Amino acid sequence: MKKKIIIGNWKNYLKGVETIELSKKIIGETIPDYIRLMISPSNLYLNDVNEIMKDSSVEVIGQNITSYESSSDTGGITAIGLNSIGVDRSIIGHSEVRKRNEGFKSEDILKEIIPAKFKFILCFENTEQIPYDILNDDFEMILAYEPVWAIGTGETASIEHINQIHGSVKHELSKLNLDIPVLYGGSVNPDNSKDILSQELVDGVLVGGASTKFEDLYKIINSI
Ligand code: PGA
Repeated sequence: MKKKIIIGNWKNYLKGVETIELSKKIIGETIPDYIRLMISPSNLYLNDVNEIMKDSSVEVIGQNITSYESSSDTGGITAIGLNSIGVDRSIIGHSEVRKRNEGFKSEDILKEIIPAKFKFILCFENTEQIPYDILNDDFEMILAYEPVWAIGTGETASIEHINQIHGSVKHELSKLNLDIPVLYGGSVNPDNSKDILSQELVDGVLVGGASTKFEDLYKIINSI
């Protein structure tokens, strides 16, 4: 079985002590062979979490990039900066980022990070937001379907809806000969993760709220 990817997006839910405590609990547990776990803590604690997890199989990733390299970008975060602390992947275009940046276009940042082969998870709320023409498989790219109405609302998309969107994205990717994983995100929890993760068209899940609770995260990881 191809490994399923589970991303815990901790957003800004946890304080420093809680972040460290949860990270330590996670590395104390065995992760099943068929799961690839990525954790995305708040930027404030990214370096600490990366240190804690560096000898484990857990991959630590950023939540956002605002520019590729050093620039006049107050409060932003660069791909080069992430690389310098040993983080080589970030989420891009999360709906919460799109919401606070009117006119956000993932192409703007992707055009800078793709040539540099900086790995990313590109979130999309609708398929028009996927810039197929600039994707390639020279290195690992991941897509995540995140319907905005399902994020943090407790309202998960139906399996039929998820399969329909993932099917159409995978069809477009196959026309380009691209094998890019497509994840689902939006109110994934221990009660629905088995159903979602067991779909062939779903390569993994991006989990927000539930991933900040150790028991829920572990139920999700062990649900298939
Ligand atoms: P949620 O968040 O699981 O809390 O709905 C998902 C996300 O923001 O990616």
